[in-house]
Amino acid sequence: MSMMWRKKPISAFEEDMKKSTLQRVLGKWSLTAIGIGAIIGGGIFVLTGTAAHYHAGPALALSFVVAGIACIFAALCYAEFASMLPVEGSAYAYAYGTVGELFAWIIGWGLILEYAMGAMTVAVSWSGYFNKLLKLFGVELPKVLTTDPFSYGDMALNLPAFVIVWVVTAILVKGIKEAAGANNVIVVLKVTAVLFVIIVGAFAVDAANWVPFIPEAIEIPGENGAPHTAYGVGGIFGGAAAIFFAYIGFDAVSTQAGEAINPKRDMPFAIITSLLICTVLYIAVSLVLTGMINYKDIVGDALKAPVAAAFEKAGMPWAVFIITAAATTGLISVMLVMMLGQTRVFLGMAKDGLLPEFFKSIHADFKTPYKSTILVGFVVSLVAAFTPITVLGDMTSFGTLFAFAMVCGAVWILRSREPNLERGFRVPALPVIATLGICTNLFLIYKLSYLAQMLAIGWLLIGVVVYFVYGQRHSNLNKIEQK
Ligand code: ALA
Repeated sequence: MSMMWRKKPISAFEEDMKKSTLQRVLGKWSLTAIGIGAIIGGGIFVLTGTAAHYHAGPALALSFVVAGIACIFAALCYAEFASMLPVEGSAYAYAYGTVGELFAWIIGWGLILEYAMGAMTVAVSWSGYFNKLLKLFGVELPKVLTTDPFSYGDMALNLPAFVIVWVVTAILVKGIKEAAGANNVIVVLKVTAVLFVIIVGAFAVDAANWVPFIPEAIEIPGENGAPHTAYGVGGIFGGAAAIFFAYIGFDAVSTQAGEAINPKRDMPFAIITSLLICTVLYIAVSLVLTGMINYKDIVGDALKAPVAAAFEKAGMPWAVFIITAAATTGLISVMLVMMLGQTRVFLGMAKDGLLPEFFKSIHADFKTPYKSTILVGFVVSLVAAFTPITVLGDMTSFGTLFAFAMVCGAVWILRSREPNLERGFRVPALPVIATLGICTNLFLIYKLSYLAQMLAIGWLLIGVVVYFVYGQRHSNLNKIEQK
């Protein structure tokens, strides 16, 4: 039993980093762009409609504030860890240095939900946007090439999703410089598109749509038809859980420690800055959206593409093109960073012996974990092409929230156990922030759909079995103990 609690000494992390053969090329703005590249994606363009109509009404902006605050608590805690333990394993590694091996394993396993599963769901959304964009140009791909076989009811595949994953995989194999370069360009494009939505949309706001800002709580049929209590203060929290997906991504910065030029100083900056920039943009978009279109009118097709619907209603159908093009381009960098994050977490786990050597094999010229990147690309592309994965999108939020709550706890544990370790960044009022971080993130897990909760717990239990069958016996710490 004691094996489960063995911890990796902090000095061992430092040794690992010295031996790293990854290329250190990322400065603070590239790291910040990686955060923004992962955060701004389909979430802001899609989930806002459901969250406003079914949960918060015009108070959607407050839902973004609530989810943003939950993320800020986690971001501060990630920042302290990243300034102290700049290792690629992110939350997995932080747990290994503080709580113990089994727990670290479970977090690493849970991060597969965030990164690999996130990339799968985003690939399918990308395909949806890509098809829409083609339609705007008068081109329509046959359904058999854009739908998974389960939804189609016969042999079919989601070809665009399959292809885009391989494009991203190729960029990631080629090198971190190329990946960061592609990400930088996409980030500039999508931030411009979001600013466009905010500035142009502001002129079409009818303030009457914001009244009452927090509608009275009432019972309405929910997304699945079953009655639920919407609006009021409770609706703000329901909305926060519904749009949480839109915030996922800033933590991926913490997986880039091995490629950052000055990780201890720049990673805390990038984690916090990327989140703050996106929070401000998101709050502004949600205010504009609910001002342009009444939340009661976000129904039918508008629920799937609320921002585009708001612009159509305002007599600016051409804006639909800009939004569709921005989402199509923007989602590529979300996939890029998620798959990047996944391979770096695997790299961290493989260095500790908890995954096979395969996952830490670095390409001699490209300096990337190419085998693991290709494997991740292979799995993500197949699932995205052949399954209706989006139904399980909430599992991505589960994996992320779980890691957030854990990091908030772990940073506190390490502060009290090793108060004198050098920290480039210290969370102010840590006991308060960590407690609030744990509570808010666990609360948002509780607010996720029951199906996602059950499936994610099932996934974590499978992880426990794999740990006992493989991880525990192969761990480096185990080998040292056996000597
Ligand atoms: N935050 C990312 C998105 O909204 C995952 O697409």
